[in-house]
Amino acid sequence: MIYNLAFLAFCTGLLLFLWNAPPETTIKLPNDEIHARFHHMKKRDAEAFCIKCHNPKGTAPLPKNHPPKYRCLFCHKVG
Ligand code: HEC
Ligand code: HEC
Repeated sequence: MIYNLAFLAFCTGLLLFLWNAPPETTIKLPNDEIHARFHHMKKRDAEAFCIKCHNPKGTAPLPKNHPPKYRCLFCHKVG
């Protein structure tokens, strides 16, 4: 009985914890002319293009404090 109650308490706690997780704040992949075609590609295929513009010498360099940029679309969600 005690264990059942403890388990129940644990589950409730976990649920509340997940419920209160902050909303995703990272900006999504823009839905403009430049990025439109990437919305219909496989993630990995699309990511090969990102760096062509988003590099220090490109048209849209990443901010200096940008987090590790491996796999763009895991953080910058499509849609
Ligand atoms: C042809 C050049 C080009 C390519 C390729 C490209 N981008 Fe961009 N990106 C831009 C430019 C220019 C801007 C700034 C203007 C804008 O928001 O469209 C930008 C802006 C952004 C922003 C920020 C939008 C904001 O609100 O500040 C994100 C995030 C982004 N791109 C992600 C990506 C990802 C992920 C890929 C690869 C799937 C990618 N871009 C491919 C040119 C490009
Ligand atoms: C680990 C998660 C992560 C990955 C992977 C990632 N980013 Fe970001 N990116 C962020 C965060 C966080 C910011 C800061 C702005 C914000 O609050 O969204 C950011 C900012 C940007 C901005 C600037 C937006 C602005 O308004 O100044 C661009 C452009 C961008 N990322 C493009 C890319 C590209 C292209 C890749 C892949 C080469 C990439 N990101 C990979 C998390 C990520």
